[in-house]
Amino acid sequence: MNMSFHGMTPFPLIFLLGMVMLLTSIASQSLPGCPDSCGDLKVPYPFGMSEGCYLTDKFLVTCNQSFHPPKAFLRGLHLPLSNISLDGQLAVLQSIARDCQNHSSSGAAKDDHPDTATVSLPPVAISDTENRFTAFGCDTTAVLQGYRGKERITRKCISLCDSMGDLFNHNSCSGFGCCQTPVPAGLRNITVSVSSFSSKSYSDSDDWASYNITNCRYAFVMEESKFKFSTSFKEILNGKEKVPMVINWAIGKESCSEAKKKSNFSCKGKSSCVDTSNLSGYLCRCLPGYQGNPYVEDGCHGICHTALVFKYAYSGV
Ligand SMILES: *[C@@H]1O[C@H](CO)[C@@H](O)[C@H](O)[C@H]1NC(C)=O
Ligand SMILES: *[C@@H]1O[C@H](CO)[C@@H](O)[C@H](O)[C@H]1NC(C)=O
Ligand SMILES: *[C@@H]1O[C@H](CO)[C@@H](O)[C@H](O)[C@H]1NC(C)=O
Ligand SMILES: *[C@@H]1O[C@H](CO)[C@@H](O)[C@H](O)[C@H]1NC(C)=O
Ligand SMILES: *[C@@H]1O[C@H](CO)[C@@H](O)[C@H](O)[C@H]1NC(C)=O
Ligand SMILES: *[C@@H]1O[C@H](CO)[C@@H](O)[C@H](O)[C@H]1NC(C)=O
Ligand SMILES: *[C@@H]1O[C@H](CO)[C@@H](O)[C@H](O)[C@H]1NC(C)=O
Repeated sequence: MNMSFHGMTPFPLIFLLGMVMLLTSIASQSLPGCPDSCGDLKVPYPFGMSEGCYLTDKFLVTCNQSFHPPKAFLRGLHLPLSNISLDGQLAVLQSIARDCQNHSSSGAAKDDHPDTATVSLPPVAISDTENRFTAFGCDTTAVLQGYRGKERITRKCISLCDSMGDLFNHNSCSGFGCCQTPVPAGLRNITVSVSSFSSKSYSDSDDWASYNITNCRYAFVMEESKFKFSTSFKEILNGKEKVPMVINWAIGKESCSEAKKKSNFSCKGKSSCVDTSNLSGYLCRCLPGYQGNPYVEDGCHGICHTALVFKYAYSGV
């Protein structure tokens, strides 16, 4: 009994290893022979990190190994990448605008943190569907300023509270010490700034003291699904200085109908072309029933095939 048990184990193990290898080869999705990740970040084609591994210059990702873990940067964008998705979105880590006034010293000396944060995005636009403009703090005026082409767009968010306790007694961003508003579509550069609108000091309040902060206020554009009111606020207070923001990307500047006529049309194999709205260029999608990377030759695989491998491997164990 013992013998046969020992004799049996290697089989499912080898099988599982085979399955894991198959799945990672589907998931890695870069061109053959190309590095496919920078630290924890997967870098799928059309993005790439070395010569011959990316579609055009705007998809060049630089992996900076001098950070631990390494950080990836997209060409022309000086913000670290935190996620690349083939559905036309990627996430970058963006600074929080912060305004702190030290009322325990005489006057209202500001700390040395910038009270503005600016992002410029040459080939891409900030997602209006995935992000929210958010302000935290009592007595807070936050301003989002951006450009859609030459058109200047401004949004303001104001948050108030009677005491710091208000902030932590609410579980949603409902106007007490927190304000959220949608991000307008099509913005390519934004500046977020934050300031106080009164001279009233909250720093004497016990609530503020117990959180070891002075009279601070914060503003940022952040991926809405990553935002949890109470936890995010405490993380930010605890010095987590960057938050994820989603930006849109697309191939080229042409629409699907124009691009299809060219020899460098990027949608390969079992895929179709999708026009992007409010952003020039197009995206590729695997046809229904297929998944994988539509930008590489034979990158879209039948879903049934993968499911069968799963089932087979599972019954093998
Ligand atoms: C990596 O980051 C360091 C620190 O910011 C910088 O000095 C260096 O130039 C970067 N290296 C590359 C290849 O970008
Ligand atoms: C990366 O983006 C994809 C698609 O939007 C999403 O499913 C995934 O959860 C994201 N990963 C992280 C770590 O945020
Ligand atoms: C505020 O000012 C006081 C007195 O100048 C100083 O001791 C304290 O460290 C300052 N606090 C912060 C957070 O800068
Ligand atoms: C944003 O874009 C506008 C219009 O193209 C330009 O005038 C402005 O200087 C840009 N701002 C930043 C901070 O890059
Ligand atoms: C505030 O700082 C003190 C001393 O540094 C520490 O003991 C306490 O846990 C801190 N409180 C919070 C809420 O972080
Ligand atoms: C495809 O080629 C055309 C010229 O024929 C060029 O204008 C366009 O930028 C190219 N697109 C890509 C995605 O390389
Ligand atoms: C595209 O931008 C226009 C304004 O330029 C806006 O009215 C429209 O809702 C936007 N469409 C999408 C899908 O974001």
